[in-house]
Amino acid sequence: MQPTTQTLHVDLGERSYPIYIGPGLLGEAELYRRHIPGQQVMVVSNETVAPLYLEQVLTALKGFQTSSVILPDGEQFKTLEIWNRIFDALLAQHFDRRCTIVALGGGVIGDMAGFAAAAYQRGVHFIQVPTTLLAQVDSSVGGKTGLNHALGKNMIGAFYQPRCVIADTETLNTLEDRQLAAGLAEVIKYGLITDAAFFAWLEQHLDALLNRDIEALSYAIARSCQNKARIVAADELEAGQRALLNLGHTFGHAIETGVGYGDWLHGEGVGAGICMAASLSQKQGWLTSDEKGRIVAIIKRAGLPVEPPSSLTPERFIALMSVDKKVVDGHLRLVLPQGIGKSVVTGDFNHDHLNATLNEYRRANR
Ligand code: NAD
Ligand code: GLY
Repeated sequence: MQPTTQTLHVDLGERSYPIYIGPGLLGEAELYRRHIPGQQVMVVSNETVAPLYLEQVLTALKGFQTSSVILPDGEQFKTLEIWNRIFDALLAQHFDRRCTIVALGGGVIGDMAGFAAAAYQRGVHFIQVPTTLLAQVDSSVGGKTGLNHALGKNMIGAFYQPRCVIADTETLNTLEDRQLAAGLAEVIKYGLITDAAFFAWLEQHLDALLNRDIEALSYAIARSCQNKARIVAADELEAGQRALLNLGHTFGHAIETGVGYGDWLHGEGVGAGICMAASLSQKQGWLTSDEKGRIVAIIKRAGLPVEPPSSLTPERFIALMSVDKKVVDGHLRLVLPQGIGKSVVTGDFNHDHLNATLNEYRRANR
C-alpha cells in the first residue's frame, strides 16, 4: 500500500512548523505557496541533486521570481568559501529581506543553506526540502545550521528554524545504497536514546528498510521525526537533553575530521561512534554484553562500520574529541547508552575506560 502524506509538527511557539512526509511532495506547488510570504525564492542545491530534482521544484514554484545556486557536491565543500557563493547569487540578483531560501539536497546543502538564511540580511525565510534519508530523519528538522572548519566539524553555525520541511520519500529511490545506510545510523540512534520499542521494530524491519520498502521507510522517517520534534521542542538551543541527539557523534565527528571530510560519510562516523559509545558504556557497567551485542549487530546489518579507521591513534582521537560542542570548561562530555532506549549526556565516566575503549580498537585494527 502506498503511504499517504503525513504531517507532523515541531512545537516551538511562534517558530513552530510542519514536517510533510510523503511520496511526490517535491512537486506540490501548494505546500511551497503556504509557506512563502514574498515573491523571491532562491533554491540552493548541488551538482548531483539539481539535475535530478531542480526542474520539478522550479515548476512547483511557478509564479514566484525564482533563481538557483548550485554548489559542488561533498562534505569537503561545507566551508566558508563555498558558502559565500550563496550570498554572491543573492546579492547579484538583488534578493531582499522578504525572500525565501529553499534547501534542496542532503544534510550538507540543508546546513549551508539554512545558515545562509540565518545570516542573509540578518535572517530571511527558509524551507527545507531534504532528499537523503539522513536529512529526512534528522538534519532538516530542528534548526541546526552551519559549516565545518578544518579544525572541527560543524563548529560555525546558528540555530535557525525552517518555515516547513517537505520530505518527498520518492527522492530516496535515486539514493546510493551507501547513503541509505548512512541515514540508518541516525534512525537507529533514536531507538537507542529514548525509544526502545522503535529499536525493536528496527531489528525486525531492517531488511525491509534496506530493500527500500516504502511503507517501512515512511514509518521510520515519521517515527524518527516525532522523536526529534519532541526533543527539540523541549530543548531547542541544546541547554540539556537535546545533546542526546549526538549519540555516537563525538567519536564520529573525530573520525570525519581526522580522516578528512568526505572520506567517511557522516552516518558512517555515527555508526562506528555508536559502537564505541556502547563499548565504553559496557566498561562502565551501564550496558550488558547482550545489549552491546544487539547494538553492534544492528549497525553491522545496516552495512555501517562498527570500528574506527586504523589510521586514528587513541592520542589523535582524544585531541580531536576535545574540539566538540559538548566540551564545557575544558571537560569532555559524551552521550552514552545506559540500556536500549535510554542514554545520558555525562562527563562522569572513567577516563581509563575511555582510553581502554580507544586502545581496544587499536588492537582490533592491527
Ligand atoms: P550529503 O548532503 O552529502 O548527501 C549525501 C550524498 O547524496 C551527496 O553526494 C548528495 O549529492 C547525494 N544526494 C542527495 N540526495 C540525493 C538523491 N535523492 N538521490 C541521489 N543522490 C542524492 O549528506 P547527508 O548524509 O544527507 O548529510 C550529512 C550532513 O548533515 C553532514 O554535514 C552532517 O554534519 C549534517 N547533519 C546535520 C544535522 C543537523 O541537525 N543540522 C544532523 C545530522 C547531520
Ligand atoms: N543532530 C543533532 C541535533 O539536531 O541536535
